[in-house]
Amino acid sequence: MKRVDDFRLRFGKQELVPIVVGGMGVDISTAELALEVARLGGIGHISDALVQSVSDRRYGTKFVSEKLKKYKANVASSDKSDVHFNLAVLEEATRNHVSRTMEAKRGDGMIFINCMEKLTMNAPRETLRVRLSAALDAGIDGITLSAGLHLGSFALIEDHPRFRDARLGIIVSSARALGMFLRKNARLQRLPDFVVVEGPLAGGHLGFGLDWAKYDLRTLVAEVQAFLKTEHLDIPVIAAGGIFTGSDAVSFLEQGVAAAQVATRFTVTRECGLPAKVKQEYFKASEEDIEVNTISPTGYPMRMLKGSPAIGAGIRPNCEAYGYLLDASGRCSYIDAYNREVELHPGAKKVKVMDKTCLCTHMRNFDCWTCGQTTYRLKDTTRRLPDGSYQVLSAEQVFLDYQFSVDQKIALPP
Ligand SMILES: Cc1cc2nc3c(=O)[nH]c(=O)nc-3n(C[C@H](O)[C@H](O)[C@H](O)COP(=O)(O)O)c2cc1C
Repeated sequence: MKRVDDFRLRFGKQELVPIVVGGMGVDISTAELALEVARLGGIGHISDALVQSVSDRRYGTKFVSEKLKKYKANVASSDKSDVHFNLAVLEEATRNHVSRTMEAKRGDGMIFINCMEKLTMNAPRETLRVRLSAALDAGIDGITLSAGLHLGSFALIEDHPRFRDARLGIIVSSARALGMFLRKNARLQRLPDFVVVEGPLAGGHLGFGLDWAKYDLRTLVAEVQAFLKTEHLDIPVIAAGGIFTGSDAVSFLEQGVAAAQVATRFTVTRECGLPAKVKQEYFKASEEDIEVNTISPTGYPMRMLKGSPAIGAGIRPNCEAYGYLLDASGRCSYIDAYNREVELHPGAKKVKVMDKTCLCTHMRNFDCWTCGQTTYRLKDTTRRLPDGSYQVLSAEQVFLDYQFSVDQKIALPP
């Protein structure tokens, strides 16, 4: 019977344990988590979502309060189109996060950064260019493009000295999306180094509609593999979404994927950035507590725990401080939803907004409990303590469990 450790992910001469811990935005996949995974020989991700806020929290910068101060006069206005990111600050924040993480790296694994296209930041091209090039400047091993088709993202960094040697890949949820990406980038003569195929059971935003349950990862992987074969392309495929045990991962590796990308099992590790109380919510969750809804202003469905404080909250939009979801014309669908409720309830001290949420603020505060569909199984991966709470795991333990377990077994913590 095979284990994950019988396989290797190969990038040129480099061999890795074929386990990738996926990016989990706004410092849920922390540097500490990514560093542990790299130490153990896999690929860990940090994320550049709300990177100015992450830099403040981790490295003592004051980027968020400085931005808020600059745009203070605009706070009461419903028009956020004048709220812009200072590109030099964005660059500094990204460099801070990436370079400090990379300096601490030990072991044979790699650290990638997850870059979501949907963070349009009121200037999509300019801000994405800065984010990608600053990460490359600061020595990131690779970039995973996500939450969007990224048709123009490679072109933004084609002149960067590391464009051809850093590991660059993209997350897709269909062979069609991959085809579009490859066609659009054909002139650059630079194929992605890997393609993550993310199925409908993943956490975070989904590349599917509310009919997500009609799709299944194994079929999607087979479709992408068939597409690559027809195109005579040899690009490593990484399967993601709902891979809960080492045996699940092995079954995909036997299907010919190069690695498994996992995340949910790591949300209840010490190194994960979620607050201790929230980790307990993940442990406690039952299947009925998990939903896919459309409250994310990105327009993508998102999976989360129904008990997330972000659901139904009616806070004033915080774009002067954050503003990561403002589109190219300075709009965000949460602002419209919030203004509608304020107009409908004149004089009310607090409103409730059910259809959208202020995702920046709630992710920043760990109040949007996004999770994978298998979250309800997390309680089976640990022990119950005498006080009724669940024992938090270490990233090492979860990683080694994926690497060495057989027979659908999950090793409980010592
Ligand atoms: C809490 C959480 C947050 C996530 N945030 C992001 C994100 O910011 N960007 C992204 O591309 N994927 C995100 N994902 C998806 C993961 O990177 C990964 O591909 C997927 O969840 C793997 O499936 P699994 O959670 O069933 O193991 C997130 C997943 C979780 C559980």
